[in-house]
Amino acid sequence: MKILIAGGCGFIGSNLSIFLKKKNFSILSIDKLKKKYCHLNENRLKKYKIKNLRIDLKDYKKLSKLKFKADLIIDCAAEPAVEVSSRDPTDVIQNNFITTLNLLRFSKKNKSKIIFLSSSRIYPIKKSYEFFNLKNKKLYTEKTSTDGAKTIYGFSKFASEELIKEFSYAYKMEFIINRLGLTSGPWQFGKVEQGLVSLWLWKHLNKQSLNYIGFRGSGQQIRDVLDIDDLCELIYLQINKINKIYNQTFCVGGGKKNFFNLKLLTRLCEKITNNHIKIYKIKKTSLYDIPYYISSNAKLFKYYKWKTSSNLNDTLLKTYIWMKLNKKKLEKYF
Ligand SMILES: NC(=O)c1ccc[n+]([C@@H]2O[C@H](COP(=O)([O-])OP(=O)(O)OC[C@H]3O[C@@H](n4cnc5c(N)ncnc54)[C@H](O)[C@@H]3O)[C@@H](O)[C@H]2O)c1
Repeated sequence: MKILIAGGCGFIGSNLSIFLKKKNFSILSIDKLKKKYCHLNENRLKKYKIKNLRIDLKDYKKLSKLKFKADLIIDCAAEPAVEVSSRDPTDVIQNNFITTLNLLRFSKKNKSKIIFLSSSRIYPIKKSYEFFNLKNKKLYTEKTSTDGAKTIYGFSKFASEELIKEFSYAYKMEFIINRLGLTSGPWQFGKVEQGLVSLWLWKHLNKQSLNYIGFRGSGQQIRDVLDIDDLCELIYLQINKINKIYNQTFCVGGGKKNFFNLKLLTRLCEKITNNHIKIYKIKKTSLYDIPYYISSNAKLFKYYKWKTSSNLNDTLLKTYIWMKLNKKKLEKYF
């Protein structure tokens, strides 16, 4: 099977490309390589004989010339930073939404199936406060309402989801949408925009300070974390069953087993690194932040019998070991 990975030099795209190459799929990556760390991933792909084409997926003319008849496209290309998206809506909507549109046009031409990596941020901000304030907290499911403001990033992902369904309806294109929660693991570079688990570890490893931002600086915001290896295993299962299970949307997260608040994350990072760092309190909450997200993986279990095998500590530990081993190399990217 020929698989095109869009955003193959990002955190998820690069890990997935290598994982699937090891399973003997034919992989081609497309990535615009805008960020410095993408080049490190591009070199990694080369070691596994995976080619990356430097194309900005906003440019359909270039994409349409590509002679790679993919059976499947996995769309991992996006600008994932929520705060950035709110500063520059035009750029993020063009980048995230037009990129998906172009990939859909390309899939239509080649009759490819598509797996889209969506986000938990398609759920409205108000829902997170509502769930957070419940005594018995609910898990997010595929049925949780998506109605309401969600950040420009969330909107761009939600709009892409809806567009995929339109293409599926009009052109019988088969798709899977995975709404990912916070995902982490080795090769996530500890950059603010990439996710807080690797950021927390990197700062602890380097004895640099951090901030508890918002919610009165309490560090009480709750998230679950999905291990990158669990995600790769899931997508492998989805590929193997794609002729039977398609046109479905799934919530994918660390789930009940793997949630934390920032204070707990700090304690775990202290334990792993043996370093205690200064954490400042910034009381003001960003308009875009959410206090709570934990995913239900029940639908995934029903369809694929898939469940996470890593726990939060495993993810932290292997990411820490990777960061420590590659510290010198990684420092160049900060
Ligand atoms: N990492 C997470 O915690 C998380 C959570 C929810 C959803 N997601 C989604 O998963 C996907 C992958 O996220 P990630 O963490 O690997 O992000 P990342 O920033 O590490 O990777 C994204 C990659 O896409 C590439 N890209 C972006 N726009 C492009 C364009 N127009 N043309 C070509 N390449 C382009 C970037 O260069 C980058 O290499 C994204 O769609 C994101 O929305 C990630």
